[in-house]
Amino acid sequence: MDSFEIGKSSLSTFTRSKVNGWEKTVNSYGVFVLRRSQTEVLAYSNVCTHLGCRVNWQSDKQQYVCPCHDGRFNINGQVVSGPPPRPLDAYETRVTDGILSIHFLEG
Ligand code: FES
Repeated sequence: MDSFEIGKSSLSTFTRSKVNGWEKTVNSYGVFVLRRSQTEVLAYSNVCTHLGCRVNWQSDKQQYVCPCHDGRFNINGQVVSGPPPRPLDAYETRVTDGILSIHFLEG
């Protein structure tokens, strides 16, 4: 948690491996983490809910912006403008001994 500044959204990335018999696939994912206070933290998928492009955080506008069709989401992941039909997907979070865990659901 110490690496996340309060009030700022930041992108964290991770990989997930799946083994299916002799085949192994490794995928990369991104999650925007927003630490709202010492104890409250939110995590959003960086995948746009329109057609699945990756959104970017623009701190000057305090918005997540999708470069594909200019979809925009506010800091809480809610749609501000453009074609996205719903907010960014939010993940359950848990903090244990200062370590942030998310309940990741592959969409
Ligand atoms: S894919 Fe994001 S606005 Fe279309």
